[in-house]
Amino acid sequence: MPIIYALANQKGGVGKTTTAVNLGAYLASLGQRVLLIDIDPQANATSSLGVDKRTVEISTYDLLVRGAPLADVTQLTRQLRLDLVPSAPALAGATVELVNMPQREYRLRQALEALDQRHDYVLIDCPPSLGLLTVNGLTAAADGVIIPVQCEYLALEGLSQLGRAIDLVRRALHPDLQLRGLVMTMYDVRTTLSRQVVEEVQSHFPGRVFKTIIPRSVRLSEAPSYGEPISSYAPSSAGALAYEMLAQELLQEDRKSQPPT
Ligand SMILES: Nc1ncnc2c1ncn2[C@@H]1O[C@H](COP(=O)(O)OP(=O)(O)OP(=O)(O)O)[C@@H](O)[C@H]1O
Ligand SMILES: [Mg+2]
Repeated sequence: MPIIYALANQKGGVGKTTTAVNLGAYLASLGQRVLLIDIDPQANATSSLGVDKRTVEISTYDLLVRGAPLADVTQLTRQLRLDLVPSAPALAGATVELVNMPQREYRLRQALEALDQRHDYVLIDCPPSLGLLTVNGLTAAADGVIIPVQCEYLALEGLSQLGRAIDLVRRALHPDLQLRGLVMTMYDVRTTLSRQVVEEVQSHFPGRVFKTIIPRSVRLSEAPSYGEPISSYAPSSAGALAYEMLAQELLQEDRKSQPPT
């Protein structure tokens, strides 16, 4: 079975999508076959990979609400070894439609039972909320949640709310849910604040913060408008090198904890 991670943080704009897309792209360029699942109605991961959300005919909406098979919803992208389950604006209504459905918290997990040996990694890009879509992302995250944290003032406050939500999901829905790690994003070398935030988060989550820190990089924010991950848009930029290192760090740790069978 592939390794399944959700990228979640109810705080908006912290780098969930940027991390999902670029970590995914570098895992793919390191030889892993990656499936990126966009469960955010904003569909930013979808458009970041060059897929126009307005022309998406079958999306995570169909997967979650209509029970469409995973294979029917999966698209190839321009990137080798990186497949996508695109989102579409219709997903915005899904939260309302899901409310009265059986197993509403497990729709994604059930859809992913169809995963086979074709993928090594599945990354789920969650929306900025703790609603049903994110809950579906968390219950499907068999191998844990990756939390991008923006290096800014009050980062920890949002994290305690997220921590409580994860505890709740663990208690009620997915007892094995693990915190895979926190990724510090948008680090600004020129400010002491960035450094302080990293130290603070490290001291609250000892051993849980990825060693690789993602710097603030204009190239990273430009890449989505070209529909390309940073690995093809600006492969020698600081942001690209950081996401490549993050992919290597993750892969090395995962190999250690999951010896080949
Ligand atoms: N390291 C970075 N350097 C510069 N800009 C970045 C970086 N990471 C993300 N950004 C930019 O910051 C904005 C928010 O990033 P992103 O969309 O990845 O966050 P998000 O958590 O997915 O947001 P949302 O909560 O809306 O889904 C985007 O415009 C993105 O291009
Ligand atoms: Mg996003």
